[in-house]
Amino acid sequence: MRALIMPGGRLRGTTSVPGDKSIAHRWLILAATAEGRSSLLEVPNSLDVRSTASCLAFLMSKGRPALHAWATNDRRAPEGHRSTWNVRVEGETAVGSAEALEVEGKGRRGLIEPEGELDCGNSGTTMRLLMGVVATSGFRSVLTGDTSLRNRPMERVAVPLRTMGAAIETSDGHAPIVVVGARLHGAECAPVTASAQVKSAVLLAGVDADGTTAFSEPATTRDHTERALRALGAPIEIVAGRTEVRRFQHEGFSALVPGDPSSAAFLIAAAALTGSEITITGVGLNPTRTHFLEVMARMGVRTEQSVVREELGEPVGDIHVFPTEGLGSVRVAAAELPLVIDEVPVLAMLAVHAASDSWFLEAGELRVKESDRLEGLAAGIRDLGGHAAAEGDDLVVAGGGLDGGRGNAHDDHRMAMAFAVAGLAAHGAVEVDGIESAEVSFPGFMGTLASLGASIEPVEAA
Ligand code: S3P
Repeated sequence: MRALIMPGGRLRGTTSVPGDKSIAHRWLILAATAEGRSSLLEVPNSLDVRSTASCLAFLMSKGRPALHAWATNDRRAPEGHRSTWNVRVEGETAVGSAEALEVEGKGRRGLIEPEGELDCGNSGTTMRLLMGVVATSGFRSVLTGDTSLRNRPMERVAVPLRTMGAAIETSDGHAPIVVVGARLHGAECAPVTASAQVKSAVLLAGVDADGTTAFSEPATTRDHTERALRALGAPIEIVAGRTEVRRFQHEGFSALVPGDPSSAAFLIAAAALTGSEITITGVGLNPTRTHFLEVMARMGVRTEQSVVREELGEPVGDIHVFPTEGLGSVRVAAAELPLVIDEVPVLAMLAVHAASDSWFLEAGELRVKESDRLEGLAAGIRDLGGHAAAEGDDLVVAGGGLDGGRGNAHDDHRMAMAFAVAGLAAHGAVEVDGIESAEVSFPGFMGTLASLGASIEPVEAA
């Protein structure tokens, strides 16, 4: 499906975004491995999270019906059609579920051998985190996924888990992956690539392994796993980027998934590109996820965050975006890249509307995301009449704006949403091929933007 975006206009109002995908994966895994009943509110209906839920359903006996029903029950129509899932309340769009997802866990030892392969769909987080979970089980699991996921590097997770005694075979470094569960022992892991997924896989294995497991990260990455484990009472110590965990069995818990700041980033950029003022409520404000706001601030986008509560160790609150007058270029250093790794596509779309060149340095990790985002961003910007290039592993984006035209998202949710948002400030109309991939992380993306006043609509014909 294509989206047609007309430039101009002002956005206004207060809105919310679907629950955080990263957090939802982790809390679902923790609910499935808890002893007792967990109750999760606002679990996002995004495709990636459903992949985690359906894999977990295969690994459970008692909890299976609830997870399976949730993962397969498509209670909302595809984007651009009448939707029964999004609830509109006087100018506000609340996206998500009002019902709690109740999961009855029998503890980590209560997981059962899956009858078939664990299909992780498009979701790298599902596959990598589950590797750490099933590595300590008493059974064999096979993890696979779609074509994009089967092309992504998996040895980065297998290598540290093997140092703990795990039996993992990848297919030439990729999925399908065969994991034969074993009794693992703690180890000292210090990978060269900064990855929250690798860290989380090791920590999730560590809480079901003998002895102490330590993970040192080369750069700070999102810390949702650590926060949740600590909130659940796990023995976890973090000193200067080195995290230690020991065996721990947690109990069931209740929590409400905060809105996804990475989804909010698209709305904030949309406001900045149209000089608008908006508020996004109920967003996760974990500092390891909000660094993009600091990068945006360096570009001249003024925002204010206010934390209003905490959920399982995660700060949650509102983001207010003040009107932006003119965007400046930016230089994103290699050291800060892991903190904005998912926001580079949208930051690049702000950069293209700045007055001069912007740089995203040593951004090679972007090549192994849902698509090759380094090349895809440069090519997409050029397709829309702008100037950008991948120089080695650096992305350089020339300012000066976009003419308009047609951008191909290569089935990558964040690329689709980034091009759509960029269209709001282009000189002419922008069409984005493959907008339906937004469902992977931001169900209701077009509807939310439209409810704020943006001119964006689906185009059915080829
Ligand atoms: C994620 C970590 C990041 C991020 C991905 C989600 C997570 O991946 O890009 O969208 O939930 O842990 P890497 O760990 O590969 O950097």
